[in-house]
Amino acid sequence: MSYPKNFLWGGAIAANQAEGAWDIDGKGESICDHKRGGSLKKQRVFDKVILEDEYYPSHEAVDFYHHYKEDIAMFGEMGFKVFRLSIAWSRIFPNGDETEPNEAGLAFYDKVFDECIKHGIEPLVTLSHFEMPYHLVKEYNGFSDRRVIDFFLNYTTTVMERYKDKVKYWLTFNEINFATMPFGGLTVLGIQNENDEDNMALRFQALHNTFIASAKTVVEGHKINSEFKIGCMLAHMTFYPLTPNPEDMLLVQQWDNLLNNFCGDVQVKGKYPYFMSEYFKDNNIDIVFEESDKELLKEGKVDFYSFSYYSTNCASIDQGREMTMGNLMGGIKNPYLEASEWGWQIDPTGLRYTLNKLYDRYEVPLMVVENGLGAVDVVEEDGSIIDDYRIDYLREHVIAMNEAIEDGVDLFGYTMWGCIDLVSAGTGEMKKRYGFIYVDKDNNGEGTLKRSKKKSFNWYKKVIASNGVDIA
Ligand code: BG6
Repeated sequence: MSYPKNFLWGGAIAANQAEGAWDIDGKGESICDHKRGGSLKKQRVFDKVILEDEYYPSHEAVDFYHHYKEDIAMFGEMGFKVFRLSIAWSRIFPNGDETEPNEAGLAFYDKVFDECIKHGIEPLVTLSHFEMPYHLVKEYNGFSDRRVIDFFLNYTTTVMERYKDKVKYWLTFNEINFATMPFGGLTVLGIQNENDEDNMALRFQALHNTFIASAKTVVEGHKINSEFKIGCMLAHMTFYPLTPNPEDMLLVQQWDNLLNNFCGDVQVKGKYPYFMSEYFKDNNIDIVFEESDKELLKEGKVDFYSFSYYSTNCASIDQGREMTMGNLMGGIKNPYLEASEWGWQIDPTGLRYTLNKLYDRYEVPLMVVENGLGAVDVVEEDGSIIDDYRIDYLREHVIAMNEAIEDGVDLFGYTMWGCIDLVSAGTGEMKKRYGFIYVDKDNNGEGTLKRSKKKSFNWYKKVIASNGVDIA
């Protein structure tokens, strides 16, 4: 086993899925605060106006806002070296377009970071994890309006300045490549068109503006503290050709270019890749570049590449195959893989493959900032939770990462997703649990919010203590 000595082991959450306290201490409404709970079969409903009689899972979530001390202490007990969390933009700028920040929001994250530092944990902060202030959606149609770039900059420079001595690692936009698909328009870019129809040209223009916001943040961040390490974050969608038909291979290449390489190239290489010109032409998209945009993208290249990885799928030009689910996007079932209860196919070897592929393309340090198994956990009569399935999943991925490191990949950290149970982003459920720490709360919002350790808690503690050697 060969994990580097300072490998950053840890876990990850996002504000809207964990904090709750959605309207406390001056916080404004964010996009996620408008999403009702759903399930695998029932899509989450988005309400333009929050309704009194509906249940919105983010409003209380798992109340990290009031439990952060206890939760971070448990992360410390597991030996976390890093804790990935997001700052809720609407806690700092409730509407998004104010000039002065909300001090109560800033004070909350000061306390959270101090607690991390107390436990020897390095915070890794996502600046935007599906949490744009809703006011910016209503008034500006999100990033389709370039003024939102300045609002974002005002927010990011405010928090980077404030926490410059407490936080070194930053990510700009969570799963930015989600915006290459229609349903990523609202979630990532804050666009809401009439009749909720997708406007492709507007979406790609808004994505361009988001790239600029990210690049400017990188440039300004490095001015605030030259030691900052600022990364991009993508949901890596790994596809295999279903058959050796060259057309299947070509399809996989085209999807890979659009879904993964486009956003990765812009943020790591600092320029639009050649293949997007043809795609834009075919779809009548004409991206408006302002004079300094090209230069800015070059100057604002990220320091590292981070990504989420849960599963893989197959693709084929042959329609009518059996389909399955996945993060952000499903695909054709792979006969060689098992799937989670939510249909996400489990593929540790795919992680080794993906790490090699990314390192070859970008030659910058990599970090896996999301990975894990969403499963239904059973609390036994004595209160124990025997989540061997989760341990098995994680063990295989820890082995795969190690193999990639042995292949020569520069991988410097791993934050397991949902280290404490939280609200599922995709379905809004509580019962799709990822955590080492169980939270007593159900899909209807009932429960005591009590925290308890699952079997995987001690397993991960051992993994971290042995730097990935003791994985039994
Ligand atoms: C990623 C997101 O898409 O996957 C997380 O960054 C999300 O916010 C995670 O929770 C797992 O997805 P889900 O739908 O199981 O919560």
